[in-house]
Amino acid sequence: MRTVYVNGEYLPENEAKISIFDRGFLMADGVYEVTSVLDGKLIDFDGHAVRLQRSLTELGMQNPISKEDLLEVHRELVRTNGINEGLVYLQITRGAPGDRDFAFPPEDTPQTVVLFTQDKPGLADSAQSKKGIKVISIEDIRWGRRDIKTVQLLYPSMGKMMAKKEGCDDAWMVEDGYVTEGTSNNAYIVKGGKIITRQLSTDILHGITRAAVLRFAKEAQMEVEERSFTIDEAKEADEAFFTSASAFVMPVVEIDGATLGDGTPGSVATRLREIYLDESRKMAI
Ligand code: PDD
Repeated sequence: MRTVYVNGEYLPENEAKISIFDRGFLMADGVYEVTSVLDGKLIDFDGHAVRLQRSLTELGMQNPISKEDLLEVHRELVRTNGINEGLVYLQITRGAPGDRDFAFPPEDTPQTVVLFTQDKPGLADSAQSKKGIKVISIEDIRWGRRDIKTVQLLYPSMGKMMAKKEGCDDAWMVEDGYVTEGTSNNAYIVKGGKIITRQLSTDILHGITRAAVLRFAKEAQMEVEERSFTIDEAKEADEAFFTSASAFVMPVVEIDGATLGDGTPGSVATRLREIYLDESRKMAI
């Protein structure tokens, strides 16, 4: 049984409890982070801590835990649960004021801090990354502040189910004709050796993996263009991929039924995955 962390305590998962009045539960009034673990170490902890602070600030929420303490909780959970490859999930909500009310609770309402691990042996060497995945496109009907990592994940969750129903793995969301991002990842295409991905704005999550991958790509003299692209352009691309903390760099081999290249992971995505894994392992803490 896993050990999890709830509000300052390490507990067996079946003993961990939060209030039915928690605003995360009633209002999706909470933010989260997912940090991957390789070789028992955290990948890009700093990046996730910085984005967490930004999400909290944007929502007018306080940060109930210092970066040092947060790192210690991450490490302790990885240690106790013996995670070699996997994830640490972190969620902070505006707390449980003791009743349901649309208005924010008083500032001194204790916030809820929950962390747990997910054991994923073989995460770095995943079969999917060797085969590539298939995506469908769906309309992006999420709210307008996708740069804040909130726990409002119903539509992304529905998007994955729509993809599954069509025999695919994931969905890329489209707004005003342009791809925003994947349901839980950032989207890229490659044309003529150039890596194209949507520019940062409030329309997409500012992926921590995205930032690292673009930096590594530039260091490897690969050309990067940050701009929007359409599904039609993506279907005509040489290759495509997505990035996230839980999948690293994942090749995409089919978009809305159109096969990319020869239907196997492209060379740019494959190379970037290798570089990302190598460099991240070196910098893991
Ligand atoms: N999702 N875009 C969205 C909508 C996401 O939910 C995520 C991450 C990303 C990639 O961000 P990062 O590289 O920082 O993981 C982009 C996490 C992994 C999840 O919900 O499980």
